[in-house]
Amino acid sequence: MIYILDTADLASIKRCNEFYPLSGVTTNPSIIARANTDFWKLLLDIREIIGDEKMLHVQTTAKKAEDIVSEAKLLRERLGENFYVKIPIGEEGLKSTVALKKLGIGVTMTAIFTPSQALMASVAGADFVAPYVNRLDKIGGDGARVVAEIVELLDIHGLDTKVLAASFKNTEQVHKCALCGCHSVTVTEDILKDLISYPLTDAAVEGFDRDWRSVYGNKKISDM
Ligand code: G3P
Repeated sequence: MIYILDTADLASIKRCNEFYPLSGVTTNPSIIARANTDFWKLLLDIREIIGDEKMLHVQTTAKKAEDIVSEAKLLRERLGENFYVKIPIGEEGLKSTVALKKLGIGVTMTAIFTPSQALMASVAGADFVAPYVNRLDKIGGDGARVVAEIVELLDIHGLDTKVLAASFKNTEQVHKCALCGCHSVTVTEDILKDLISYPLTDAAVEGFDRDWRSVYGNKKISDM
């Protein structure tokens, strides 16, 4: 499983990058707009925090294939090699994906809601396809089922594209995706925390501390 952080909040990126086994950061125009600050400074700050070896996914705002390619080239030039341009699925997006693969620029095809969209994106050469799980669940769909079908389709057709499931509101959604073999998820800090929290874990750790202190007081192993 590849874990990615879905935010442009620098403090959150710093914290999560320190404590969690993250492979990178994803953003989208809404996330960037929420930060409401200098675009390039924000992205360069994110790059500095995560380092050159981790992935940075940034979405294009262009609509025509030629403009998407230009934006992707500029972003890659300034943000380093481990960069993926996020492109919403559509005709112009597919056309630009083919061109970007020839240039060796990573592509994450985003705003995916159906297995057919994902399959087409993969055949065009997308490195990642990003289905939106919670947005499907919210309208009475089954986001995890869609992710499972995408994983199955890519496997049946021997395609290398990875599924980068996105739009999560709870750990059950993440768990269902992980169970079906989804390659990667992009989540917020809250979800990362929830994924490792459990009341019985806290109770177990408290019990260990209490028992140790009852015999050895505040001594640490290094004092023994
Ligand atoms: O970029 C995709 C993902 O971040 C969307 O999440 O929470 O806006 O549905 P959300």
